[in-house]
Amino acid sequence: MLSVVVLISGSGSNLLALLEAADNPLYGARVLAVGSDNPADGLAHAERFGIPTFVVSPQAFDSREAWADMLLANINHFKPDLVVLAGFMRILPSNFVQAMSPNLINTHPSLLPAFPGAHAVRDALEAGVKTTGVTIHVVDEGVDTGPHIAQREVEVQTDDNEHDLHERIKSVERELLVATVKDIAAKNIHLASLTN
Ligand code: GAR
Repeated sequence: MLSVVVLISGSGSNLLALLEAADNPLYGARVLAVGSDNPADGLAHAERFGIPTFVVSPQAFDSREAWADMLLANINHFKPDLVVLAGFMRILPSNFVQAMSPNLINTHPSLLPAFPGAHAVRDALEAGVKTTGVTIHVVDEGVDTGPHIAQREVEVQTDDNEHDLHERIKSVERELLVATVKDIAAKNIHLASLTN
């Protein structure tokens, strides 16, 4: 059974999809804990499933590295096989990435390498692309630059606003994230071989 810690910053709909999937023992992965950089709404999903949560706020630390060390200490307490960034909106410093690599994945609402960063959906709309989507990738020390694991396209509609397009992307994203974690658990995907 693959053990997973999920990090979120917001509403946690991707987290909820993982929690629901992992509720079935046949899924092959279980969520040990959920962490956040703030008292995010999505932590309530974990609490409903009886899964421990932790918040490590960067404001309480003198440096990003010290914050990341505390985040790592909280994660290491659970000794997970994999850490999933599911709407975690902070860039992790290299001490964190090096400690977890390659067992650290992120889901991002664009077809990377297009539109990295915190405003991928808005940036895609402003660029006027006809197709955007979602990318799940291994996290490296860059911003959304790590090796891709899976991508799915989502068509942009002419009357789309940021909210509507993001919601359509997220419905595809939840399915892709659940399927990708299942494939990692089943060893159909080998993260180490993507990073060599
Ligand atoms: C997701 O679309 C995720 O890809 C995005 O935040 C959303 C979180 O939704 N992450 C990023 O933009 C990271 N750069 P959720 O809280 O409902 O799962």
